[in-house]
Amino acid sequence: MAQSVIRVFPDLERLSREAAEQFVRLAQQQAHEGCRFSVALAGGSTPRRLYELLASEPYRSRAPWECVDVFWTDERCVPPDHPDSNFRMANETLLSRVLVPADHLHRIPAEQRDPASAAMAYERILRACFQAPDDVVPELDLVVLGLGEDGHTASLFPRSPALHEANRLVIATAGGVPNLQRVSLTIPVLTHAKALMWLVAGEQKATTVRAVLEGPKRPEELPAQMVTPRRGAALWLLDRAAASLLNRSCPSCI
Ligand code: 6PG
Repeated sequence: MAQSVIRVFPDLERLSREAAEQFVRLAQQQAHEGCRFSVALAGGSTPRRLYELLASEPYRSRAPWECVDVFWTDERCVPPDHPDSNFRMANETLLSRVLVPADHLHRIPAEQRDPASAAMAYERILRACFQAPDDVVPELDLVVLGLGEDGHTASLFPRSPALHEANRLVIATAGGVPNLQRVSLTIPVLTHAKALMWLVAGEQKATTVRAVLEGPKRPEELPAQMVTPRRGAALWLLDRAAASLLNRSCPSCI
């Protein structure tokens, strides 16, 4: 994958500490430039430790929380207090412990009965926050992404029609573990991000990491391959186990 910077860490803890450093650095940089830092948080389990670190010292007091706008890359179609809710996980680990202004928390209203309506509602929220007309794709300052063993990211799953959505910002999808209806940002939003940071850990991801980063282009089978930044390079933070099948030498291995 051409536009990737790969950094490998001994374990999830040190991977997460680097991710927290990146988050704080980008947030402080944006705060100096006008006090609005927009970040879309990933769901799943890998980013949990990052969120816990951001809610604790030294990161908690270093981040300009009053300037942060929080979005989500995707959400399961469950209530916000459901154990499978990405909002609940981020709220428990981070957002309930830092002073992000309430009107800066932009939750995906995925509990609505109709996921397509929830997707349209979130698209309106995104466009309003960025004052983006219909022909403009909002540029989030940072998008945090995970990688599924099947090569999905956010809730964009292999062979899904959602992979080809070129105009909408948000779309209803289904799949994953747990296999649920979901609401996800679309590829255009992810690729327009000013910074993309992938967090991938665990031996069970090693085959997929190699396929996505070093294998042939198979975007239908490996949606993560479609998320290439329009500018700059994506940052991949891997633990040694997830990076164990990569061929390239890792000069930045730590
Ligand atoms: C979700 C996530 C999803 C996740 C990957 C990896 O809602 O499930 O957004 O894209 O990042 O499935 O999940 P783990 O971090 O739990 O391995």
